[in-house]
Amino acid sequence: MDLKVQLAPKNKTGLLLKNPVMTASGTFGYGTEYEHLFDIQSLGAIVCKGTTLEPRQGNPQPRIAETSGGILNSIGLQNIGVEALIEEKAPIWAKWNVPVVVNIAGNSVEDYAEIARKVEGVPGIQGLEVNISCPNVKAGCVEFGSDPSSAARVTEAVRKATSLPVWVKLTPNTADVVSIALAVAEAGADAIVLINTLKGMVIDIKTRRPVLGNVTGGLSGPVVKPVALRMVYEVAGVIKDVPLIGSGGIMTASDAIEFLLAGASAVQIGTANLINPRAPVEILEGIRLYLQEEGREDIKSMIGLARK
Ligand SMILES: Cc1cc2nc3c(=O)[nH]c(=O)nc-3n(C[C@H](O)[C@H](O)[C@H](O)COP(=O)(O)O)c2cc1C
Repeated sequence: MDLKVQLAPKNKTGLLLKNPVMTASGTFGYGTEYEHLFDIQSLGAIVCKGTTLEPRQGNPQPRIAETSGGILNSIGLQNIGVEALIEEKAPIWAKWNVPVVVNIAGNSVEDYAEIARKVEGVPGIQGLEVNISCPNVKAGCVEFGSDPSSAARVTEAVRKATSLPVWVKLTPNTADVVSIALAVAEAGADAIVLINTLKGMVIDIKTRRPVLGNVTGGLSGPVVKPVALRMVYEVAGVIKDVPLIGSGGIMTASDAIEFLLAGASAVQIGTANLINPRAPVEILEGIRLYLQEEGREDIKSMIGLARK
């Protein structure tokens, strides 16, 4: 059975995954934290926590709140910074058999380009995921992702700064995701990730105060799946030459298969990891079983079938 998917077809080296299941940024640390739990190298790829130029402490606590059908998080891009990532994490990744993609975020277009320049040629880093969609920081990030021209500017700057495959991760907090997807495709994105979290909030009726220290946070989990799926379906209708990667509420193999049928070439597992760290391998197994039952030899034969 052929589960391989190419997630940077226009890039010189490409980014060929042995299967379409990967972890979503911010829900699987740097991968190293999970190595002892299962064979993480059986996954298609690992996407690490959002990385900035300087280390970040993140937002005030509390930073996670449960809601019906999902969670809100307002981590605020707490991370070790790109220098520590290069020194401490990349050498470990370089020994792995699974590609690691580094999720990057910045306050300015130049920040993104600078991080991309710093990781260029570092063994252990196979690609970049440009996060222009984090709703939990005061400056930058989602501001770039909410408008086609600034989304294109960030994409172009990173594209120029690196020879690595560049994925761009979009926000659902916009009225017109298709225009933004078209803009980043035009600007040189090798793949497009749909979607990051939806901005939301919860209020404690006893204290009469917002629950999250940051007031608002990003909504993820099963509740966002229909929105994410709809966005993949819509973007797949207009973009044929740039692979899409589905993210949002994928908890089971059946969720993942819906995204593939909608037109995603691969999927990211996020909130599910916080409940069951083995979720990505279980979902991979479920996809394999589905293909077997359907008598399909090649996963690519089912991508986008819901559109045909
Ligand atoms: C605790 C937490 C931290 C996250 N951190 C990041 C991040 O650093 N960068 C990013 O692009 N997305 C981040 N995300 C978004 C996820 O990668 C994913 O796109 C989103 O949660 C939707 O998928 P899910 O419903 O499967 O979780 C985070 C999500 C959660 C729940």
